[in-house]
Amino acid sequence: MSKILITGATGYVGGTVLSQLLACTAPSVKDLTFSLLIRNDAQAQKLKDAYGSRINTIKWSGLNDTAFIEETASNYDIIINTGSGFIPEGAIAFVNGLARRVKAGKPTPWMLHLSGCTNLSDRPLTQPPIPLREWNDELDSAEILERMKALDEKEPYSQRTTEIGVLEAAAASGVQAVSINAPCIFGEGAGLFNRQGLVIPLIMMYVIQHGYGWKLNETANFDWVHVLDLADIYVLLVRAILEREDRGVGYISSGKRGVFFAAVGRTLIKEINQRCLDAAFADGVLPRDGTPKQKEIRLVPLEEIADKLTAGRSDIAERGWGGHKATKAVLARKLLGWEPKRLQEAWEKDFHDELVALKENRRMVTMESCIGATKR
Ligand SMILES: NC(=O)c1ccc[n+]([C@@H]2O[C@H](COP(=O)([O-])OP(=O)(O)OC[C@H]3O[C@@H](n4cnc5c(N)ncnc54)[C@H](OP(=O)(O)O)[C@@H]3O)[C@@H](O)[C@H]2O)c1
Repeated sequence: MSKILITGATGYVGGTVLSQLLACTAPSVKDLTFSLLIRNDAQAQKLKDAYGSRINTIKWSGLNDTAFIEETASNYDIIINTGSGFIPEGAIAFVNGLARRVKAGKPTPWMLHLSGCTNLSDRPLTQPPIPLREWNDELDSAEILERMKALDEKEPYSQRTTEIGVLEAAAASGVQAVSINAPCIFGEGAGLFNRQGLVIPLIMMYVIQHGYGWKLNETANFDWVHVLDLADIYVLLVRAILEREDRGVGYISSGKRGVFFAAVGRTLIKEINQRCLDAAFADGVLPRDGTPKQKEIRLVPLEEIADKLTAGRSDIAERGWGGHKATKAVLARKLLGWEPKRLQEAWEKDFHDELVALKENRRMVTMESCIGATKR
């Protein structure tokens, strides 16, 4: 019976985490079978065709089916919840299912969640300023959850509500829980379905469409991590839980101190735009007829960026594209020996790679649709 249940295996992060677990040659992992919760039969078949007996798929209707989630979760030792981080009731139901194992006296179960650094962001365009700081997951481990709770009491934000809910439900029930609070994730994913990140592809698309870059202010920042390095943290967590005599209990910071950051580098949003412009001008895609001949970054309204890049959600757009969210990832390095391998050079190269992917129609839009040249 598989010990590990994974959500999000059809996604960018979850698909990459699964592929890295399957590629792991450590004796504790190399023969494991992983159970995957999948909504779509064709996707389940593709996973089976690719990964054979290393996985088994379980059909579900999704993160809203809490009764099913709780029942299913109660059969597993470790749940890797790398699907959408925006549905609190579903994520908490996984913890509630694991809690049944605590009561039954089974080995202490673990919930390994995925969330995002916008949970700690300010909203500098529409709300009064708050003190800015760099959050350190080791030194500030007791304070991070408290800050998120204070922000969420004023204004609930579903990704943050989910992260708080998971960590608090776990702390209350004896389940161990870690939430990787990820920054901007870049690089080609290694899953079978969505392999693209969000931030660079979206900004590249905008820049190619408009011929210029954009900014909401001068100081909005993002930390960044390559998707393969992020996935490594999950592999290292699984290995620590399986290989250590204490199953990581009391060793891996968890529950109310369970936020792990994954930052490797830091950038400004306007610098991401600059790098996209640099890549497009170097390639010759820009300038073209009707676009600025020089590289330009224009100050644009929040609503435009919310509509064009964030599904109309101005709250998420403001946190992501306008906000400040500096994090320092100490715990994964110190406790798990995490050594991210894709550093500044990989970050810089990714802009070229993203442009090539766009030109080769490997992104959600095509170059033709980007420049309005789609043939009908
Ligand atoms: N991408 C980033 O840059 C980034 C940065 C920081 C944090 N994050 C966090 O990571 C999470 C996953 O990001 P991603 O880039 O991997 O997303 P993604 O590629 O869009 O994948 C989303 C995954 O979640 C599943 N999913 C979505 N809605 C669901 C529902 N209602 N019920 C069950 N499954 C559902 C999808 O399954 P189906 O195939 O069945 O739809 C898919 O497997 C985000 O939600 C966010 O919290 C992402």
